Amino acid sequence: MNAVILVGGEGTRLRPLTCNTPKAMVPVLNRPFLEHVLCQLKAHGVRTVVLALGHLSQPIEEYFGDGSNVGVNLVYSVEKEPLGTAGPVKLAEQYLDGRFLVLNGDVFADFDITSIVAAHGRSGAVATLALTPVEDPTIYGVVEMSAEGRVKRFVEKPRREEVTSNMINAGLYVMEPEVLSYIPAGTKVMFEHNVFPALLKAGKPMFGHAQTGYWIDIGTPQKYLQLNLDMLGKDAHAPQHPAGALVHPTARFSGSVLLPDDCIVGAGVRIAGPAVIGPSCQLGPGSVLSRSVLWSGSLLSENCSVSASVIADQCVIGTGAIIDNSVLGDHLAIAPGARIGPGVKLWPKTGCGAT
Ligand code: GTP
Repeated sequence: MNAVILVGGEGTRLRPLTCNTPKAMVPVLNRPFLEHVLCQLKAHGVRTVVLALGHLSQPIEEYFGDGSNVGVNLVYSVEKEPLGTAGPVKLAEQYLDGRFLVLNGDVFADFDITSIVAAHGRSGAVATLALTPVEDPTIYGVVEMSAEGRVKRFVEKPRREEVTSNMINAGLYVMEPEVLSYIPAGTKVMFEHNVFPALLKAGKPMFGHAQTGYWIDIGTPQKYLQLNLDMLGKDAHAPQHPAGALVHPTARFSGSVLLPDDCIVGAGVRIAGPAVIGPSCQLGPGSVLSRSVLWSGSLLSENCSVSASVIADQCVIGTGAIIDNSVLGDHLAIAPGARIGPGVKLWPKTGCGAT
């Protein structure tokens, strides 16, 4: 079975992290987010994946190439204009052969895709939507179903009083080729607003398949940070100090810490995990890092403090600066003694798209 992953959005809510990096390439545990998704698809038997690209497509093609590094066959389908969530699938029609999967490229779902596909086959649906329960459905697309799991209605971002279910569209679909005939070519079309309602109106069977596995969309910096911390907490129960990293004997670690072997950790540094440190980072003497993600090549000078924050590539944090609950774009220099946060987002010097 083939899959289409939608990775052409601008990721505006994830700015400033997505100013110079496509959302699909933001690092999660020091590997591009998309690599985690591709590995999961491979584990469920998907062999060919169409990447539906638009905005900032080049870094994705350059990194993944033909897909051989991750063990899947990759095909690139690049839009001239954004075609929404369904339009790109129509554009990729030539690469689809029989039943196929569609995934939002900003969702990490530890779902049993094999069982969703099997349930789809048994039900005779034209489309099966993976569903996940959330505490607050008002910012998502809620799916109402019959007792047998047949989709009855979609309510996009319902007001609190309209909420009748906490099961939301998880952004992973199994589809029959027939669905393609409900997507007009060459124009922006959304599954959520256009195609799914049209299928329901035509009386086509659509089913929801509830999953209870871990699910998160990395649409915002907070959720992006959360995914890193959750995955690190899950995968490693002890601090990881690769032999290659230059760690001063007085540095102290607690919790799970991902530390590549080309990093330098100075005297008296304290790192409280979960924390992800990117390649070629340096943590100067006396600095403190907790519950944060550093991308590659950043430098914390002496006695810095970074907590609950994300710092993108190649930033320099001046001596004694304090960064709390904030997000820094790439290549920023923070003045010595600066206090950043809580809740601050700093854009890279090069700016960011239209802003
Ligand atoms: P925001 O600007 O923050 O809303 O992010 P987004 O537009 O990147 O993501 P959104 O949540 O709206 O879309 C869900 C998924 O669809 C993401 O993986 C996007 O990359 C993808 N996507 C959104 N619009 C397009 C599009 O026009 N073309 C393609 N190929 N993918 C898209």
